[in-house]
Amino acid sequence: MCESKKAGIIGLGMYLPDNVLTNKELEKMVDTTDEWIFTRTGIKERRIARNDEATSDMAVNAAREALKDAYLKPEDIDLIIVATITPDMFFPATACLVQEKLGARLVPAFDISVACSGFIYGLAIASQFISSGTYKHALVVAAEKLSAITDWSDRSTCVLFGDGAGAAVLGPVDEGGILSTHLGADGGKGDLIKLPAGGSRIPATKETIEGRLHFIKMNGSELFKHAVKIMADAALGATQPLGLKAEDIKLVIPHQANIRILNAAAKRMGLKQNQIYLNLERYGNMSAASSAVALVEAVKKGLIKKGDKIVLDAFGGGLTWGAMVIEWSK
Ligand SMILES: CC(C)(COP(=O)(O)OP(=O)(O)OC[C@H]1O[C@@H](n2cnc3c(N)ncnc32)[C@H](O)[C@@H]1OP(=O)(O)O)[C@@H](O)C(=O)NCCC(=O)NCCS
Repeated sequence: MCESKKAGIIGLGMYLPDNVLTNKELEKMVDTTDEWIFTRTGIKERRIARNDEATSDMAVNAAREALKDAYLKPEDIDLIIVATITPDMFFPATACLVQEKLGARLVPAFDISVACSGFIYGLAIASQFISSGTYKHALVVAAEKLSAITDWSDRSTCVLFGDGAGAAVLGPVDEGGILSTHLGADGGKGDLIKLPAGGSRIPATKETIEGRLHFIKMNGSELFKHAVKIMADAALGATQPLGLKAEDIKLVIPHQANIRILNAAAKRMGLKQNQIYLNLERYGNMSAASSAVALVEAVKKGLIKKGDKIVLDAFGGGLTWGAMVIEWSK
């Protein structure tokens, strides 16, 4: 057991596949236009993993960078959590594959499946183990190969998603760290975005494949309506207990689903445009990996400094949501 302390992020890493798929290229695949996609979503291009590149491969690349950033070795890690809805396979958990590929010790390793909120859920779980003193260092990776579950003949979904991975190493910190967490779920709205077949309810058959039931099905306009309120409420759920106002927040790192959702949520939260970090133009929606990669980029760009208070904020399939206030401690 270690001494009980606040948990903080002590290392970050990310990985994005080289292959860029632009809106212009999508115009040749489905009945859409660059103009429609950009004005409705804010997305210009997204990354697509190679055929031989699975979620664990991307996760390991991001994890290695995060370990290096934390000046730690794989054997220093006491817990591995992977947030993903695109695991390499149902089981073993992708986290177990990551443990093996990294050469980490035989530490607990498991996946969480809460879609786009996964990075925040993962950080929340890991921070409990650290602040209780049970573990010293935890690795949380959010990695998605959404291209593998995207119906490339469905224009209403295929223009939205991309692949990538982000990773954080958590450890005990003397100052700052994770100050508050707000998590939630509404299973009653699970039908708004889901992958219907391949599980125990509808196992894979010739018919499910022909019916394209192994791809993401989404009610976009209905989701849109809920997303704005959920994101604003989640952020308030994390900031209000600390007495924080919009002006106290250096940067909000949101899940990158749609620029219109983000602008509307920001307005509701009373945030200025320069208080929200955006990268969806370049990567689209990478589910759990979106907020993770956005955080890594914002830190790399020097937008977050020691002592700054930032908010991670996400919603996703489930429905699930999560927000977290972190005082940057590096
Ligand atoms: C998907 C989304 C961009 C669609 O935008 P929208 O303004 O709601 O558009 P609608 O779904 O109402 O569709 C409007 C029209 O555009 C069409 N359309 C849909 N996709 C299109 C595309 N890629 N290109 C051109 N037209 C398209 C529709 O068929 C519809 O045509 P119709 O009016 O003739 O029926 C938007 O609803 C959204 O972002 N929702 C949230 C999705 C989300 O966040 N998902 C992830 C959760 S983590």
